[in-house]
Amino acid sequence: MAQEIFDKVNSILADIQAASPSSAEDIEQFRIKYLGAKNILKPLFGEIRNIPNERKKEFGQLVNTVKQTAEDKLQALNNQVAQENETAEANALDMTAPGEPLNMGSRHPVSIIMNRIIETFSRIGFTVAEDREIEDDWHNFTALNTPADHPARDMQDTYYLLNDTERLLRTHTSSVQVRTMENQKPPIRSIFPGRVYRNETISARAHCQFHQVEGLYIDENVSFADLKQTIEYFAKEIFGHKTKIRLRPSFFPFTEPSAEVDISCFICGGEGCNVCKYTSWVEIGGCGMVDPNVLENCGIDSQKYTGFAFGMGVERIAMLKYRINDIRLLFENDIRFLNQFQSAL
Ligand code: DAH
Repeated sequence: MAQEIFDKVNSILADIQAASPSSAEDIEQFRIKYLGAKNILKPLFGEIRNIPNERKKEFGQLVNTVKQTAEDKLQALNNQVAQENETAEANALDMTAPGEPLNMGSRHPVSIIMNRIIETFSRIGFTVAEDREIEDDWHNFTALNTPADHPARDMQDTYYLLNDTERLLRTHTSSVQVRTMENQKPPIRSIFPGRVYRNETISARAHCQFHQVEGLYIDENVSFADLKQTIEYFAKEIFGHKTKIRLRPSFFPFTEPSAEVDISCFICGGEGCNVCKYTSWVEIGGCGMVDPNVLENCGIDSQKYTGFAFGMGVERIAMLKYRINDIRLLFENDIRFLNQFQSAL
């Protein structure tokens, strides 16, 4: 009888020694079975009364050994799991592994030029103002001295909103000049970057949407000399310090006098090439002294204040600078084209 009980305990000991639970679940089962509140060893303590006195001590020691073995095994199993978790974690985040290359992309050539223009004028105290692309007739045309029957409207035909002939897509950012003059008192010294629209047949040289940066400076005693100096500073900053400018008399309804801005060809330096069409000069925009009518339309006293304005097409400058021969490339979002400007930043 006593030997039977000894055998039973010994077989439990052998089971414990042979057990190799590996999953967290199996380990927990092991713990419950041998060390839990209702563990398999408990009933054995009750058996002690069936053991003859001379073997009681031996039995007690055996049961303790079984318990200790189970505890040691559980401890070892838990340590092993903890170590495995640690290694898995360490492997998951290998600090020495080379990083995945990040594809940074690049700025759009129009944005590169736009930002450079903004930066160039910011340096001489011009602030930046932006406004809506859907404009009303007053801000795009009428306030700018271009009434409904003015022939200049033909050159800037645009898109009108359906059933609303008062609202149109702005043809130039000059509309923001008007809004600025209506809302601020001189001195005003701002530039106006933004997207504009024209009813144009799309070709290599023209598009129905493009970007402009215009500028406006209004104060007492602003003269044409100030205008010329500002344009010259800008041209040298953007196209290089050898650049010369030429102001060619022209007409804009909102400036008087008005001029086209030409720069000396930065490609051939005046020798003649196909960019300047062998004239040594390249046109980059228009400018002039703000017409007193425009000042009055916007609530500015034209007896007291004078000002100059200028405007240029951003795509045109980008095309000249980067030798792009088709404006459509700028709007097609072809990654092979856009990636070429990575180093231009
Ligand atoms: N708004 C003109 C255009 O879109 C460009 C321009 C010319 C703007 C002369 C000006 C300016 O402010 O003074 O063609």
